[in-house]
Amino acid sequence: MLKIKSLLAVAAVSVMVSAYADSGLHSETKAVESVWRESMVAKNHVGLDRLNQTALQKACSNADDNVASNAEREQLRQAATESVVYPTDGKFFGDWQRGEAIAGNGKGMQWSDNPSDPNGGNCYACHQMSPDEVAYGTVGPSLRNYGMRGTSQAMLKYTWAKIWNPQTYMVCSHMPRFGDAGILDQQQIQDLMAYLFDPASPVNRK
Ligand code: HEC
Repeated sequence: MLKIKSLLAVAAVSVMVSAYADSGLHSETKAVESVWRESMVAKNHVGLDRLNQTALQKACSNADDNVASNAEREQLRQAATESVVYPTDGKFFGDWQRGEAIAGNGKGMQWSDNPSDPNGGNCYACHQMSPDEVAYGTVGPSLRNYGMRGTSQAMLKYTWAKIWNPQTYMVCSHMPRFGDAGILDQQQIQDLMAYLFDPASPVNRK
């Protein structure tokens, strides 16, 4: 009996501690959010609506328990899956040389960019691709020799969906939703696909 009582006491204290910690974390998050909201200004064609998160981003930003539950996580992933638009002309591949230029172009969507210029993909910010480019980020996995994985329908659809909306496969992915968020158009994604898969592309040079 004594044992049960002391266990209950420990449980009660830990519930109190975690409730306290949660409210502390919550108000800290709120404070940080209000600082960055106040520090941003709309400029040229870039408005503050950029700060509004999608339901998925909100769930993934919730540091308390990441995405609330597995059910919610699966629901958000399912919605991402439904957002993918496969090539309307049935072609997965464009021109790898144009794709190379898009992968290395980090411009677009900033207030200082000309909004009528096409956006770049900035893939090198996070991925290794061609061996000729030595400046690359490592947030994402290396895509060197990506074509080695073959061009089965499953592989093409996976890669297309990954570029269109990476949250399809990883709900809290840090990779931008290039198609879903309207950053790149169908032709640009076809060109990037060629850059990843074409045997003549430097990405696949041995
Ligand atoms: C901000 C970082 C970031 C940028 C920019 C980025 N990616 Fe990614 N990418 C990732 C991460 C992280 C992953 C690992 C899976 C995940 O978290 O979604 C990934 C995974 C991938 C994969 C799947 C890799 C595999 O082994 O199956 C492909 C393909 C891919 N990215 C292509 C691209 C292309 C093409 C571009 C440019 C248009 C790009 N990525 C830009 C972060 C990024």
